[in-house]
Amino acid sequence: MDIIEICSHFKDYTVNFTDSLASIMEAYDKPESFFVLDRKIIELYGKELGADGQTGTDRGLPEDRLFIIDALEENKTVETALDICEKMTAMPSKRNTHLVSIGGGIVQDITGFVANVLYRGINWTFYPSTLLAGCDSCIGGKTSLNYKGYKNLLGTFYPPDEIVIYPGLYRTLTDRDYMSGLGEVVKFNVMAGKDGIDRIEKDMDSLLARDHDTVNDYIQRSLTFKKDFIEEDEFDKGRRILLNFAHTFGHAYEVSSAYEIPHGSAVALGMVTANRVSSKREMLNTDFAERIEAVCRRILKLKLKEEWFADDTILGAIRKDKKQVDTAIRAVLMDNDLTLHIVKDLADDEVKDAVAYIREYILTCK
Ligand SMILES: NC(=O)c1ccc[n+]([C@@H]2O[C@H](COP(=O)([O-])OP(=O)(O)OC[C@H]3O[C@@H](n4cnc5c(N)ncnc54)[C@H](O)[C@@H]3O)[C@@H](O)[C@H]2O)c1
Ligand SMILES: [Zn+2]
Repeated sequence: MDIIEICSHFKDYTVNFTDSLASIMEAYDKPESFFVLDRKIIELYGKELGADGQTGTDRGLPEDRLFIIDALEENKTVETALDICEKMTAMPSKRNTHLVSIGGGIVQDITGFVANVLYRGINWTFYPSTLLAGCDSCIGGKTSLNYKGYKNLLGTFYPPDEIVIYPGLYRTLTDRDYMSGLGEVVKFNVMAGKDGIDRIEKDMDSLLARDHDTVNDYIQRSLTFKKDFIEEDEFDKGRRILLNFAHTFGHAYEVSSAYEIPHGSAVALGMVTANRVSSKREMLNTDFAERIEAVCRRILKLKLKEEWFADDTILGAIRKDKKQVDTAIRAVLMDNDLTLHIVKDLADDEVKDAVAYIREYILTCK
């Protein structure tokens, strides 16, 4: 597997691929290493990791340097971050402390924040354990915490020093979490244009079957695609905003369903919604939009409730999104050349029409 190198204003960092969890164990013997793990990872891979103090190498996961997180949105808070800091300040090492974390986006957001603020920044290594984290969020350096009921209100930029991807971890994801990751994979391929959509139509069976080589290939492609945007515009001021394609509506669907629709699945729905606005504006031909809808239908296997798609709720949620700045709504839309544009003048009626379209569309997702 190729190594992906990312240039960053903080420090350049790398994404490596591995076929086991052995490299984590090398850090057990180093007194400056501290571990933050998703509880699911301990449950599913505890034996492999020596969470019971027993491994093939007889170096168990050190309990005094371990913090376990239940990956729930209500735990993605500054309180959890401070609990980790408290446990870490008891270690003899200080600025050379090295944080190692294994988990999905929730664990990533919390540990990235801790690594950023503790001693004004320590080294950290991240093992993304969900497809969503592996194909998307692990690079780009965003850290976010929920605050006073607001999602991702507190945040910083602080990329890991190293990301290690072990795709074997994605085999144990529930269908819900795996399909959510596929939502972002599909988004990147649609953004890549005609070749991307041709490719993903062809490979969808293998992706759904979690075929090892196909999944690896799409993770590499997704990260390589995103790399370009974040290297050019690390702090989200220009071109990186295009990566927000499908997210204006996607975030609103996450909120309106009280997060029952996971992030990547909401992005898939957001893509269909954005394309409907583009088609109505005659920016995008309906043939292409329908191909994307057909691909998304294959990964939207959740129970989607009509009540989550009420026009006023969605409009209200979009207006509250921190990325909206004026009264007219902003979104990223695709045109017939499959080029993306930041559009700043969406009218309420256009949004209502697109959300009504989604209410019909979800009836075809079973
Ligand atoms: N920082 C960023 O750039 C960024 C980008 C997108 C999303 N996010 C955030 O990421 C979070 C969502 O992350 P996510 O979708 O990766 O999921 P998650 O961290 O919420 O985890 C989803 C579920 O999968 C479980 N899990 C994790 N690894 C597993 C494995 N290998 N096998 C079985 N189960 C496993 C978790 O315990 C949890 O139940 C949200 O809070 C979102 O705001 C952050
Ligand atoms: Zn996303």
